[in-house]
Amino acid sequence: MSKLRLIVLISGHGSNLQAIIDAIANRMLNAEIMLVISNRADAYGLLRAKQAGIMTEVVSVKQLSDRQKFDEALIKLIEPFTPDLVLLAGFMHILPSEFVRHFAGKILNIHPSLLPKYPGLHTHRQVLAAGDKEHGCTVHYVTEDLDAGPIIAQEKCEVLPNDTEDMLRERVLKLEHQLYVKVLQTMGARLES
Ligand code: GRF
Repeated sequence: MSKLRLIVLISGHGSNLQAIIDAIANRMLNAEIMLVISNRADAYGLLRAKQAGIMTEVVSVKQLSDRQKFDEALIKLIEPFTPDLVLLAGFMHILPSEFVRHFAGKILNIHPSLLPKYPGLHTHRQVLAAGDKEHGCTVHYVTEDLDAGPIIAQEKCEVLPNDTEDMLRERVLKLEHQLYVKVLQTMGARLES
């Protein structure tokens, strides 16, 4: 069975990346992460990748004079790997349209809310402010509109009366790790069939 060929884009802690690395190591996911790209040189996720023996690259917008060049650099970097999927995992940069069009239908993102509720940032704070009784996370296809692409899967959790933003963030993050791996397992099986 051929392995799902993955490229992962990160910006920070990389806990979602780690969940995928662990699932592959534990043979829960038949995939290969060929490259981890970060737009920040200080992303802890780069260390995680290196510890797992995965190639890393930093492509920071600061380095390149404008978004157009960032776009081209990213496409040039990724293209040769012919990935089945490009995963955004805590990637905090809005991808230029040219990039999204180039890899249309292959870019997934994980977002810490039950989309279409609360696209963008500070989702846990918004859930608490709204007094929602449930929260969760979403894996969706990336389109040119922020956090608005077709939803692939969601996981839900309760919002408890004394929840703080951090408690909620932690509960949802655990769900994210499970959800992303589950989605990749399903997509891997589908690509295989
Ligand atoms: C996660 O909540 C993710 O959904 C959001 O960034 C947070 C950190 O992700 N986009 P990670 O630990 O860097 O994977």
